[in-house]
Amino acid sequence: MRILSIETSCDDTGVTILEAKGGLAKPSFKILADSLASQTIHAEYGGVFPALAKKEHTKNLPILLEKVLKQSKLNKKTKPVDLIAVTYGPGLEPALWTGIVFAQELAKKWDVPIIPVNHMEGHIFSVFGKNKGTFAIKKIKFPLLSLLVSGGHTELVVTGKNLKHKIIGRTLDDAAGEAYDKVARMLGLPYPGGAHISKLAESQRKILRFERLGSATARARGIFQQKNIRTLETQDFSFTFPRPMLKSKNLDFSFSGLKTAVLYFLKDNPSVDKSKVAMEFENAVVDTLVYKTKKAIEEYKAETLIVGGGVSANKHLKRELKKITKGKNFLTPTKELSRDNSIMIGMAGYLRYSQNKKNTIKPQKLKAQGDLKLG
Ligand code: KG4
Ligand code: ZN
Repeated sequence: MRILSIETSCDDTGVTILEAKGGLAKPSFKILADSLASQTIHAEYGGVFPALAKKEHTKNLPILLEKVLKQSKLNKKTKPVDLIAVTYGPGLEPALWTGIVFAQELAKKWDVPIIPVNHMEGHIFSVFGKNKGTFAIKKIKFPLLSLLVSGGHTELVVTGKNLKHKIIGRTLDDAAGEAYDKVARMLGLPYPGGAHISKLAESQRKILRFERLGSATARARGIFQQKNIRTLETQDFSFTFPRPMLKSKNLDFSFSGLKTAVLYFLKDNPSVDKSKVAMEFENAVVDTLVYKTKKAIEEYKAETLIVGGGVSANKHLKRELKKITKGKNFLTPTKELSRDNSIMIGMAGYLRYSQNKKNTIKPQKLKAQGDLKLG
């Protein structure tokens, strides 16, 4: 079947047409056309403005639709697709509504059903996708554990064979990506800042690898090993930031204290090397994410680990997660599919539709749910 998928939950407008077959038993996909418009306009404000995002999505959607219909050579068909998949949450409600209204109009015009998609479920299934060509989802070993890390979310999710999700841990305040963006701002880096911090941190790690094993480092190494902190090889012990929530018994996260620690440190040390701050901040975030993920793998006996969402593009995070998943499956999305996109929405839509055709919804009943949860 052919599916048109739409993503407008934040500041990326995505429209994809894909061909899907095989049902839940043997799902496979072919990208017929894909188009993504990123709203760089928010960069000058240092964050996403819902009203501005809405305006941009409204402008982009018809342009992207025309592009994908033309690309897939389906523009002359009166009913180019069999199903429309659209993100209905979580995200910014004014932005979500633009995709929903657009989907409703097309569903009426083409007389096709709509399948509503949870954006976070899209991030989970993104690891099975590619941004062009054909691909199949290989047999998944359950239970599946997903670490979802983006600008709006940081959560650990367990998924069973029936594709039922359960959130087992989440951030109590800032999302990991949000902390990256805020610290990037403190360091005078452009928005969104995750990739910029990561680049600085990686360059600093390279320098440290040359200099490491000084006596002070070796001493501190002992202390940190006892605390089970993983980023030892690339730790500069001239200053450290806190690893929040490591002592808590649950699987929750918190990043606002870390962000504040960076803020005060920068106030007291205005001439500090930015790359060192970036590296130590990233080490603190990754240590925390990896520590809780390891705990969750053990507690839930997960066979497969997935990391999804914008922050999953982070090299250091992937490197450290790989170390704790020896003997298990560890799946990460391609760079293109780690960020928001509509390919993952089409894939999730197809799987939900294959599970039960009754998962579709009457267009007029569809509503945006900004705080939609998995499960
Ligand atoms: O999933 P996403 O594209 O949008 C949301 O749904 O939020 O995630 C965007 C977030 C931003 O906070 C951005 O700074 C962060 O992902 N990000 C990164 C990296 N690339 C993007 N964070 C750390 N390291 C990266 N390489
Ligand atoms: Zn996202």
